[in-house]
Amino acid sequence: MHKFNRRHVLASLGMMGGSALLSGCGRQGPDLSISAKEIDGSQTAGGHSAVAEETAQPASQAVQQLASGQQDWTYLPLDPERVGQLAYDIYPKGSCMYSVVGSVIMQAAEKVGEPFRSFPIDMMRFGAVGIGGWGSTCGVVNGCCALIGLFHSGLEIRQKREELMADICLWYESASLPNFQPENPAQDVEIASSVSQSVLCHVSSGAWCKASGCDAFSIERRERCRRLSAEGAVKVVEVLNAEANGQLREFVDITPEVHSCNECHGKAGQADSLGMMNCMPCHQFETAHP
Ligand code: HEC
Ligand code: HEC
Repeated sequence: MHKFNRRHVLASLGMMGGSALLSGCGRQGPDLSISAKEIDGSQTAGGHSAVAEETAQPASQAVQQLASGQQDWTYLPLDPERVGQLAYDIYPKGSCMYSVVGSVIMQAAEKVGEPFRSFPIDMMRFGAVGIGGWGSTCGVVNGCCALIGLFHSGLEIRQKREELMADICLWYESASLPNFQPENPAQDVEIASSVSQSVLCHVSSGAWCKASGCDAFSIERRERCRRLSAEGAVKVVEVLNAEANGQLREFVDITPEVHSCNECHGKAGQADSLGMMNCMPCHQFETAHP
C-alpha cells in the first residue's frame, strides 16, 4: 500500500519547521552486538518488530549471576478454579495485582515449596488501581503478565513471552467481564459485565461504571474488580497450563483496525506511535483519516 511520507505531509500542511525538526534522531544501526540484534529481531504478536531497549554493553558478572538464576521457577500446571477462588479470597489483603500473583504463587508453593514459598508477593500491592492509584495498567493485566514474565523469563524467548502476554491483553480488551462466580461472595449481588476495550484501569473501570450505573468508589465496583481478579487468575493459569502441557495455542491477533493504524504509524510507516493496545478509546476521527 502507499506509505505516507511524513515530510511530504507536513510540507503540504505548511508545517515544515526546517530540517532540525526531523534531524538528530537516528535509528539503531548495524553496530549493535549480536545479542541486542537478536532481541531487536524478535517479532511480536502483532507482527511488528519489537523495539530494542537493551544496550549493547556486555553484562557485568553480577548481572550474569543474577540473570542466570539460582532458583528453579519452573511452572507446574495448577487447577484454574482453585486458583481463581483463592484469588477472590485474598483480594482484600492487597487488591487486584496482589490477588492474581499471590493466588498462583501460593498454589505453586503448596505444590512444590521453594522457591515459591519465598516469593515476595507483598510487593505486588503496588499494582492496585492501575499502579498506586494512577489508573494506568489494570492490576489484573499487570499481574497476569508478571506471572508470564516469571515463568517465561529467558532472554531468547521474548517472542513467546510477548505472544502469551498478548493473549492476556487481547482477552482483557475484548471479553465481557467479569463472569466469575465466587463460592461465598462478599457482596451477594448481580455484578454487571462490560467490555473494557482497554488494558487501562481508568478506561476499563469507566466502561464498567457506564454499564452498571454504579460509581467508581462503590462497593459494587470493588466487588467487580475482585471477581475480575479471580477471572484473571483463572485465565492466566489456563494460558500457563496450555503452554506447560505443550498444547497448540490458538493464534490471537490485534484487531484489523489497530493493524491498519500501525501500518501507517508503526515502525514500517511514520514511526510516530509505539504499542499495540486498542487505539480507539483515545483516538476517534469524525472525518476520514488522515
Ligand atoms: C493511510 C495511513 C494512515 C492510517 C491507516 C492511519 N493514519 Fe493516523 N495519520 C496519518 C497521517 C498521514 C497523519 C498526519 C501526519 C502526522 O501527524 O504525522 C496522521 C495523524 C494521526 C494522528 C495525529 C493527528 C490527529 O489527527 O489527531 C493520530 C492521533 C493518528 N493519526 C492516529 C491514528 C489511528 C488511531 C489510526 C487507526 C484508527 C490511524 N491514525 C490510521 C496516516 C494514517
Ligand atoms: C490511552 C489513550 C491512548 C491510546 C489507547 C492510544 N493513544 Fe495515541 N495518543 C494519546 C495521547 C494522549 C497522545 C498525545 C496527543 C497530543 O499530542 O495531542 C497520542 C498521540 C498519538 C499520535 C500523534 C503522535 C505525534 O507525532 O504527534 C499518534 C500518531 C498516535 N497517538 C497513534 C496511536 C495509535 C496508532 C494507537 C493504537 C495503537 C494509539 N495512538 C493509542 C493517547 C492514546
